[in-house]
Amino acid sequence: MDFQPIIDFIKTLYPGKDPIVLHEPQFTGNEKKYVLDCIDSTYVSSVGKYVTLFEEKVAEFLSLPDTRYPIPDTKSEPLFCVATVNGTAALHLALIAAGVKAGDEVITQPLTFIATANPIVYIGAKPVFIDVDPDTLGMSPMALRALLKSLVTRHRSLPKACVPMHTFGNPCRIDEIVEICNEYGIPVIEDAAESIGSYYKGQHTGTFGLMGTLSFNGNKTITTGGGGMVVTRNLQLATRLKHLSTQAKIPHPWEFAHDAIGYNYRLPNINAALGVAQMETIHEKLESKRQLAKKYADFFSTIGIQTIQEIPGAQSNFWLNGISFKNRQQRNEFLQLAVNQNVHCRPAWELLPTLEMYKQYQCEDIPNAQRISDTIVNIPSSPIN
Ligand SMILES: Cc1ncc(COP(=O)(O)O)c(C=O)c1O
Repeated sequence: MDFQPIIDFIKTLYPGKDPIVLHEPQFTGNEKKYVLDCIDSTYVSSVGKYVTLFEEKVAEFLSLPDTRYPIPDTKSEPLFCVATVNGTAALHLALIAAGVKAGDEVITQPLTFIATANPIVYIGAKPVFIDVDPDTLGMSPMALRALLKSLVTRHRSLPKACVPMHTFGNPCRIDEIVEICNEYGIPVIEDAAESIGSYYKGQHTGTFGLMGTLSFNGNKTITTGGGGMVVTRNLQLATRLKHLSTQAKIPHPWEFAHDAIGYNYRLPNINAALGVAQMETIHEKLESKRQLAKKYADFFSTIGIQTIQEIPGAQSNFWLNGISFKNRQQRNEFLQLAVNQNVHCRPAWELLPTLEMYKQYQCEDIPNAQRISDTIVNIPSSPIN
């Protein structure tokens, strides 16, 4: 197949850009103003008004139902957000706050960025990998139920947490996953690093489980340079998360007293200043990304190439658009052509259980994840003007 028309089409979307990158940040609002204000105030570190403001803005945004869904099912209890230095730290704290300890098992998916699984291992816990669904690319509720049933049948102890991920911003069947985990008393921590602005059945991703985590890395839909967030409806957990993220220091005007092994994971004010400005333009960014996804879908349908599409009830932020090739060889031919012309595309991740450090952990049958890893390519997805 001749892939040049694909490259040519991508170039028409980003005229004058060379290279065309996968996802670049856009600073079109008050970013400079707020960062300068932050510098002028001298509060550039982990204390300052922008951290709280950023947490409030994200909590407010995540609480809003998606009006495009006919019966928004958003829960009414308030959401609490705790800002962290990055999404990996957010996951690490969430797992600790959920009570995961060394030796425990934690269910997750093999098709994800390595940062989903690394914090499990930081704790000394053991990931258990189960397959993803072929349409959402996220954790399969069927595979989850099969694993839990078989553990019960064999009188084995149950995993202590479950970490599904909304792949490339495309929501997984999170309501079913939470329902199954609730049946077995397993807390769900949603890795929503890629999915700010994505909804399932009217409710924002990351708000279904006991906790959810976000990333504001430079390649994400909105960025703080580096940054992350833990989201929960449980005030006690939120308080604990904030405490752990600030070295577990007991507030006191001068004493240095700490009541646990804490972490230096609090987001600096200067990063939060950037985040507050980014949140002010998030709706425009999301709208532009949706239009881009539509252009891609229309184009690829004319040449018989499949794009990643939302399942009924899902609203994706289309963080990264993806297209599917027949096999790994065809995928690589396309990637080579794109690289040669400075159009940044990338394959889906190599599956985590195939990496040396993860080979020792339990992995169920994962045919869907394998096929997706072999065939999917992400294509440039920065918002278009
Ligand atoms: C699925 C997933 N989980 C976790 C992370 C970690 O986020 P961060 O890079 O902010 O540590 C990322 C992104 O980088 C991600 O894509």
